Amino acid sequence: MAGGGFVNPAGGGDYPGKLTSFVLLTCIVAATGGLIFGYDIGISGGVTSMDSFLLKFFPSVYHKEQANKDTNQYCKFDSPLLTLFTSSLYLAALVASFFASTVTRVFGRKISMLFGGITFLAGAAINGAARDIAMLIIGRILLGVGVGFANQSVPLYLSEMAPAKFRGMLNIGFQLMITIGIFVASLVNYGTAKISGGWGWRVSLAGAAVPALIITVGSLFLPDTPNSLIDRGKDEEAREMLRKVRGTEDIHAEFQDLVAASVQSRSVQHPWVNIMQAKYRPQLTMAVLIPFFQQLTGINVIMFYAPVLFKTIGFGDNASLASAVITGLVNVFATVVSIYYADRAGRRKLFLEGGTQMLICQILVGTLIWKVFGVSGVGTVNKSTAIIIVFLICVYVSGFAWSWGPLGWLVPSEIFPLEIRSAGQAINVSVNMFFTFVIAQVFLSMLCHLKFGLFYFFGGWVVIMTTFIYFFLPETKNVPIEEMVHVWKKHWFWSKFVGDAAAPANGGDLELKKTAQV
Ligand code: BGC
Repeated sequence: MAGGGFVNPAGGGDYPGKLTSFVLLTCIVAATGGLIFGYDIGISGGVTSMDSFLLKFFPSVYHKEQANKDTNQYCKFDSPLLTLFTSSLYLAALVASFFASTVTRVFGRKISMLFGGITFLAGAAINGAARDIAMLIIGRILLGVGVGFANQSVPLYLSEMAPAKFRGMLNIGFQLMITIGIFVASLVNYGTAKISGGWGWRVSLAGAAVPALIITVGSLFLPDTPNSLIDRGKDEEAREMLRKVRGTEDIHAEFQDLVAASVQSRSVQHPWVNIMQAKYRPQLTMAVLIPFFQQLTGINVIMFYAPVLFKTIGFGDNASLASAVITGLVNVFATVVSIYYADRAGRRKLFLEGGTQMLICQILVGTLIWKVFGVSGVGTVNKSTAIIIVFLICVYVSGFAWSWGPLGWLVPSEIFPLEIRSAGQAINVSVNMFFTFVIAQVFLSMLCHLKFGLFYFFGGWVVIMTTFIYFFLPETKNVPIEEMVHVWKKHWFWSKFVGDAAAPANGGDLELKKTAQV
């Protein structure tokens, strides 16, 4: 038997309540936390290709690039020192997410977002004013801490605030903001690269202050989630908040379930020890594998290096930047598709469809590049092939943008029981950051060594991850977050780990019905 598709037969959250304008507004504000992450992803690649920046901070890289007359297109841009600038931020974010886990659990989700915004703001200021490499690195570390805190707290916040029926839609607001951040950053780079006088990179780096200010100021006004308020002993405030976010007086059933989840949560002194117990094995597996797989789709090769990649296949400077802007736009619009479908078609269908779509594109792009450059890396792309490659990359990006992109943040944030939610999310963020770091760091060398095979390499991983989803990820759409344990209990494989003892005492009232295999 394969897979495990479960849905809540009610077709929506089991609690009364609607999508209030209050919850919508708070979720939009919180989701802006994604802007800082996106802005950084989009800005680094462009800045590190600006000559004035290279000359000031990485003169050896600049001279090497100028002197490089290598005709092997695959190896033109291989420079580990430079990629370290981009990737160092992710190491800082990785470490920060563990501290964020404690702050988020003990002081609430909102404080983590605020702290993330402030540190990112400080990092942007230091980077914009950088006079030497030390300032540059200190700035990068602060930006990384900001991203670590925001990515740890924002997805949790959104998943807890949202009514079950709209959780996918509201949570994906985070990914939408990431894609907007990436897109805006690519436009900023496009403009600042043209500034004569060699200080355009300062504008790009200091520009990070804008998204940082948005989330910093925004988080000052955000309320904390009812789940977190109860968990911190503020029951009355939580009840009030739940009434407000659900827009109804009839919150008793949901409130009782949140309290039950919190009782369970408070009995857990050491979430890090607890999370290792067998009963949490399915969630732990997902918290590690989902972010790992997300990065192994190869998406950040496009996000960080689209201009470089397009130059590699023979595009001119302007055409490369323009193509990067196009893929950025596709990324934003395709994310909207998942906002619509995540709560309707469900997570599994999006994962399976997106994976198949990415795989087909990877095989085709790899083969086209093989045909043009062969193994030696020498050759030129004609116009029609170039257009086909850009088109295929856009189809690949859209496949990611309605599957692994948003779901890579949504699914881990909704599957953990309250007692280990913060710790679980920290694992998710740190694994994501670690592999973002690895890909950013090794991509240019991989391109140099694996050549066109790089596309097959990532394609192979997409086959593995899509198979994994098919067999091991149960459907989580519309299931109330504190009832999620039942989804695992009914799964053909995970039920071996999640016994009855793992369910909250009152959790049995949600009827989850096994549906036909997706
Ligand atoms: C990923 C990033 C990626 C972005 C692209 C996010 O979900 O975590 O690594 O760059 O999507 O849109």
